[in-house]
Amino acid sequence: LAIGPGSALAQSYPAKPITLVVPFAAGGPTDVVARMLGAAMMKSLGQTVVIENKTGAGGTIAATAVARAVPDGYTFLIHHNGMATAPALYRKLSYNPLTDFEYVSQVIDVPMTLVGRKDLPAKDFKELQTYLRANASKVNLAHAGLGAVSHLCGMLFRQAVGVELTTVPYQGTSPAMNALLGGQVDLLCDQTTSTTPFIKSGSVKLYGVTTSSRLKTFPETPTLAEQGLAGFQVVVWHGIYAPKGSPKEAVDKFGAALRAALKDPAVAARLAELGAAVPSDDRLTPVGLQTILQQETQRYGPVIKAAGQFAD
Ligand code: MLT
Repeated sequence: LAIGPGSALAQSYPAKPITLVVPFAAGGPTDVVARMLGAAMMKSLGQTVVIENKTGAGGTIAATAVARAVPDGYTFLIHHNGMATAPALYRKLSYNPLTDFEYVSQVIDVPMTLVGRKDLPAKDFKELQTYLRANASKVNLAHAGLGAVSHLCGMLFRQAVGVELTTVPYQGTSPAMNALLGGQVDLLCDQTTSTTPFIKSGSVKLYGVTTSSRLKTFPETPTLAEQGLAGFQVVVWHGIYAPKGSPKEAVDKFGAALRAALKDPAVAARLAELGAAVPSDDRLTPVGLQTILQQETQRYGPVIKAAGQFAD
């Protein structure tokens, strides 16, 4: 089999649509970004990027499916911090995030926001803490399953404020946001790529942001750390993976199309509006993704084991 830049595969790839698997529900932050980038990537790939939402078990069902998919260059996975937390959270994980995939590239960094239903009585974070202490057993915090960043952020928040809230799982933060808009749940910690339009329209209340400094998109809103939760920080990083053994030409071309899409002025402007940041060029590489995955796996593993939250 001839491989290399001049090989038949390099010249003919992609010869058909490519599937990008999204581990959470349609309309949520991962899905929104995947669809935006997939549409822009068509320009350089000359083929459609088909988004497939494979939900469940905090993103591990999708990652399992992609780890087992035929490594022919036509299946990719977009995932976030959940790739690093899953080995510590799931006792019976049937794939190894560090060894069962080809790394394509990191994608974007996204801050998170703590939002509440519009009619929650607390008008700011100070009042929210008082409200939570008085009503803990009645307050519902939505999330997208064990291994979702909304779950990670929610757990860290519960620990930081020292209040045991009731948690309600969904298949992604899009259905969780719908529940918040409908008043069925009270709080959600979610990425700005999902929450920004709802905050701007006043459909939800913003109580704080999870970054170490304030966001350009909401400069008036203090960080949670500024409001008393010392050191509170959760930033979501996304990566693209392929099944182990996928052809290098395919991984390289998909990565190049991704980098071109991130530099597309319309895409870059929309991502900035939604509060997302495009990482430096060295992170938009296979090594860049491998590095962050290794670092974050080491960082989260002991924290999760200490917290004792597991699933089979
Ligand atoms: C989603 O796309 O629904 C979210 O990324 C889920 C999560 O909170 O991890």
